Amino acid sequence: MSDSFKATPPSGDPSGDRTGRLSGHPGTALSGTANVPGDKSISHRAVMLGALAVGQTRVTGLLEGEDVLATAAAFRAMGASITRRPDRVWVIDGVGLGGLREPADILDMGNSGTAARLLLGVLAGHPIRCFLSGDGSLRKRPMKRVTDPLTQMGARIEARSGARLPLMIDGADPVRAISYDLPVASAQVKSAVLLAGLMARGQTTVLEPAATRDHTERMLGHFGAKVQVEARGQGLGPAVTLTGQPELTAADIRVPVDPSSAAFPIVAALITPGSEVRVPGVGLNPTRTGLFTTLIDMGADLTIENEREEGGEPLGDLVARHSSLKGVEVPPARAPSMIDEYPVLAVAASFAEGRTEMRGVEELRVKESDRIAATEAGLKANGITTTSGPDWMIVEGRGPDGVPGGGLVETELDHRIAMSFLIMGLAAKASVTIDDQAAIATSFPDFVSLMRALGATLK
Ligand code: S3P
Repeated sequence: MSDSFKATPPSGDPSGDRTGRLSGHPGTALSGTANVPGDKSISHRAVMLGALAVGQTRVTGLLEGEDVLATAAAFRAMGASITRRPDRVWVIDGVGLGGLREPADILDMGNSGTAARLLLGVLAGHPIRCFLSGDGSLRKRPMKRVTDPLTQMGARIEARSGARLPLMIDGADPVRAISYDLPVASAQVKSAVLLAGLMARGQTTVLEPAATRDHTERMLGHFGAKVQVEARGQGLGPAVTLTGQPELTAADIRVPVDPSSAAFPIVAALITPGSEVRVPGVGLNPTRTGLFTTLIDMGADLTIENEREEGGEPLGDLVARHSSLKGVEVPPARAPSMIDEYPVLAVAASFAEGRTEMRGVEELRVKESDRIAATEAGLKANGITTTSGPDWMIVEGRGPDGVPGGGLVETELDHRIAMSFLIMGLAAKASVTIDDQAAIATSFPDFVSLMRALGATLK
């Protein structure tokens, strides 16, 4: 990744050193306003569609985390001009659909499954050869879920054993429009198929087993493509149909605050006595708000103010105050709308009175880490009783007895494990240490300075 695309070091951290151990320490209430960065999912899609459109797209609020910067670097390597103005507006001059040129080197997607899988969809529609790789976490993650449908659409893909990165893709020419019954509820796979379908003649349809985040569909519509979404009855997700070869026209984008990142200061406030934290402008797309629903079920004092819509996405200001939480059963059907939030929910559940049961969460096994295993190990290291199976996890909350803490947590290159356990330390009886804070920069580069500004002791 070129240096000009590295995020600036966080303010309040003059050394700029964001690697190595870090501990969350108990003792102070949190208060104030948290200006949490932009949505990671929407930011990836803004860069990708901006790069594929005709004309200039200006993006405000883009997440300048390593994952999104990897996407930007990949599209620059294929001919799009992507620059950051001093006022933090990102300006993208698109190449037009089909206009990407073959990159001269391997595309390094870093830690980002979203970048890799969505990019494969884009590349499947371009008659060029590309090589993709990523970090130690991404190279373990399954790609068959995207290589299967993209091969059906005509792409030729050669991957390492187990359909893992590194891999080589030759885009299809022409691309076949397909109707694809998604075997897993995955927005990344849905998006990859739709992005490949941009170059197909005719209609590409994805049938979802459950509704997943719909940012690709919304943004394709924003750029002028025709996307139809049809409900398919009880217990099934919608059918999403894209009409291929649209005129994709540049359109400005304002990225809302990432609800998955807002989750950290919000849960921190809920579990830390005396706290009150406000997070303005949080994306409240219903395909993303499962954690907030669950926290409210647990008795959280979490309110939403100023609900509004900007750029086709609903948003609002969230206010969280310290609360006595109760354990709950999280319904499996809610999993897609909070799939990235289970580690931080498990932390909230540790402080709750009673048991919290999370079921239908097998997808957690194939995230940046095996998040069931990594979360359980972190909870156990800090005195929490948990049990798990292939697709479930149970956390025995400590309620008024308090969370012992005092443990060392292995983050496994997983940003959400890192942030979740730092938060735990703020309200435990003894500090909680993570082995490496480096992964935090993938989605929330200013996390440490932002939490310190709210009063958290992280050192
Ligand atoms: C994402 C979809 C989800 C989520 C990931 C971002 C996206 O993954 O976990 O962090 O932007 O489409 P899956 O599609 O694998 O569920």
